[in-house]
Amino acid sequence: MCGIVGYVGSKEIGTRLIEGLKRLEYRGYDSSGLSIIENKQIQHTKRVGRVKALDAALPKNYLKARTGICHTRWATHGDVTEKNAHPHISSDQRFALVHNGVIENYLQIKQFLESKNYTFASDTDSEAIVNLIAYHFEKELEAPDSNRFLESVRKALLHLEGTFGIAVISKDYPDEMICARRGSPLIIGVGKNEHLIASDVNALTHCTQNVVYLNDNEIVHLTAEDFSISTISKVSVNAVIQTVDWDTSDAELGDFQHFMEKEIFEQPAALKNGMRGRFSDDGSTAFFGGLNIQPQELSQIDRIIFIACGTAWHACLIAEYLIERFARIPVEVEYASEFRYRNAPLDKNSLVIAISQSGETIDSLSALKEAKRKGYKTLSINNSVGSSIARECDGGIYQHAGPEIGVASTKAFTSQVMLCAMLALYLGRLRNLSYTDGCNIVKALKGLPKLVEKTLESKDIIQKVAKKYAHYEDCLFLGRQLMFPIALEGALKLKEISYIHAEGYPAAEMKHGPIALISEKCPSVFLTTNGEMFQKSMANIKEIKARKGKVICIASQDCELPEDAIDDLIQVPEAHEIIQPILMSIPVQLLSYYIALERGCDVDKPRNLAKSVTVE
Ligand code: F6R
Repeated sequence: MCGIVGYVGSKEIGTRLIEGLKRLEYRGYDSSGLSIIENKQIQHTKRVGRVKALDAALPKNYLKARTGICHTRWATHGDVTEKNAHPHISSDQRFALVHNGVIENYLQIKQFLESKNYTFASDTDSEAIVNLIAYHFEKELEAPDSNRFLESVRKALLHLEGTFGIAVISKDYPDEMICARRGSPLIIGVGKNEHLIASDVNALTHCTQNVVYLNDNEIVHLTAEDFSISTISKVSVNAVIQTVDWDTSDAELGDFQHFMEKEIFEQPAALKNGMRGRFSDDGSTAFFGGLNIQPQELSQIDRIIFIACGTAWHACLIAEYLIERFARIPVEVEYASEFRYRNAPLDKNSLVIAISQSGETIDSLSALKEAKRKGYKTLSINNSVGSSIARECDGGIYQHAGPEIGVASTKAFTSQVMLCAMLALYLGRLRNLSYTDGCNIVKALKGLPKLVEKTLESKDIIQKVAKKYAHYEDCLFLGRQLMFPIALEGALKLKEISYIHAEGYPAAEMKHGPIALISEKCPSVFLTTNGEMFQKSMANIKEIKARKGKVICIASQDCELPEDAIDDLIQVPEAHEIIQPILMSIPVQLLSYYIALERGCDVDKPRNLAKSVTVE
């Protein structure tokens, strides 16, 4: 949520900052702003709305500057207005600051600073930080001039409660930038005679592939030639430069209209990347290089707790079905936001697994920290190398799905589900899953990318169905067993990008309440395969039809559906049950996408949302 990019270097900030900001827009997009230093003065421009509005408003001289910070905002404190947009300028006009995160004690700080005659122009918590820096700068008179900027930021940070990723520039230090993080990601981009800072690696790859991930409570001083990291409590830190393996084009639209569309169609490749090199030579199991837990230890695990939010939480529900079925280990799935405060009693041999695309979701990160604090082994499945969650847990599985820019998660979800299936296989083979069953599952997984390609071929049929149903304002998604999490995911996709009210239920639950919603005005999307639940699903469909509800059925090809039972049919290839949830996800993604398109919604930037929720 919110995006930061900063630059200090020998080149003009030109498109470097704005391009970076555009690449971050998916992190928050209600307003944006940019500050530079010119003639020893801080200049800034802010605009409500998208980055293109800011870009159009920027005076030409800005782009020639060599030091600058910019920000795209997802409002937490204060309305969406120019005065609340970042950067914020200290009331003595000496500093400009961009901030991600939430400062919990900002009101106390603000009151204190007001008593010292600092003034405030916005309703944000962030402005308290920049004025506090100005206050400490005044107090740091004895510090050598070269250190005064850094030391005043450091002193200010010591007083903050909450989370922050900040970048600060000062009119008195026009060739320097100070940045720091606690609970909100920041990454240094290391270039030749230039350094960048960003809250997301996406905003750096158009300039450099060399990056340093800052840790919590670290502060960095950057110039064009150099940078040095220390902790906020003044212990110096050795920087580890890593190379990002993302291609610049991974974060570009290419021939697609939207990132969501691009990412839906990238799924065969994303799945292939996620399974590459992860099957055993005997073809009966999967393995993962980074688990950092020995098989003997894993076979002692008697309970797994999955923690996640949103779409990733739906992937956990599928993990629950698959791990319990194939590995016979009891699994619980928790909303990270609930787990972190619930003080759940865990057993000695419990394993906690967080699933997170971004690796930065604050609730998932905090829940993971809580589990670690209690001494449990922790793993993660995540898509962002070097992310906070990846670094916090004992080991994990990277998704290698490539950057996901569309706010609605698609390829990250199916890749998470596939890795959960592979984990179920691995854990199953450590226990009682037979060699033959293992081989069958491996075969099914290897065939998955091709089957996803085949499923994507139904896009025209799905688009036609979407046109027919785009005007409805309510919709139910129903399915049983493994289809239930996909029903939840389908409902989430539809509501988040098309603003249609949608609910997902296990189909049998319908009779316990939701059936009251069924009418000509509320269609149902029913997901079914030809498994053991097929006949029961047919009975549920008939109950809907008996109440004049329209039924869009997403079914595997081997289902024999009575003609009068459904209104529209979308077929997916028949497959091993372990990969069926992934194949079923494709039509629900496409259906939501085309319905949103039909309704003229901004698919990649749905209202009120942002990618990666880094505030509670
Ligand atoms: C919905 C969506 C969100 C995320 C959730 C967790 O399409 O993308 O529900 O799944 O915010 O995000 P990560 O996976 O980054 O922890």
